[in-house]
Amino acid sequence: MKVCGTVIGGNKIGRMLGFPTANIAVDETFAARDGVYVARVTVEGVLYDGMAYVGYKPSVSNAHRRVLEVNLFGFSGDLYDREIGVELLDFVREDCRMDSIEALRSQLQEDRRVITEILKQK
Ligand SMILES: Cc1cc2nc3c(=O)[nH]c(=O)nc-3n(C[C@H](O)[C@H](O)[C@H](O)COP(=O)(O)O)c2cc1C
Repeated sequence: MKVCGTVIGGNKIGRMLGFPTANIAVDETFAARDGVYVARVTVEGVLYDGMAYVGYKPSVSNAHRRVLEVNLFGFSGDLYDREIGVELLDFVREDCRMDSIEALRSQLQEDRRVITEILKQK
């Protein structure tokens, strides 16, 4: 599934975690199930590998806003207000609620490890 959208501001926790993300607002009609995906992201014609998340961020927020977030591999820079294309490839795991920011950080490290392995097979 592919979605294009304008990057909106997150709450900057991603940067603190070491996994900055570009956030796109999606509502409950967005037809991907909540969870983590292998992703490919297009930024101004350049393609990046990455890992995507769809859900309500139960570990960190009480905003109850569903988002599509993507952490791009090998990209550093500000994507705020820019148009990006996100292609969701393999579904990797369900969304879950972590007990701490530390637990979330470890899970994201594990996600990156698993997703990097999957991308090597492609
Ligand atoms: C690969 C990936 C997996 C994620 N998995 C979860 C998760 O299981 N539970 C959760 O509450 N948030 C998850 N998140 C969202 C993080 O909580 C979020 O990226 C972080 O809080 C930063 O949000 P911000 O960009 O609004 O600062 C995930 C994000 C990514 C990129």
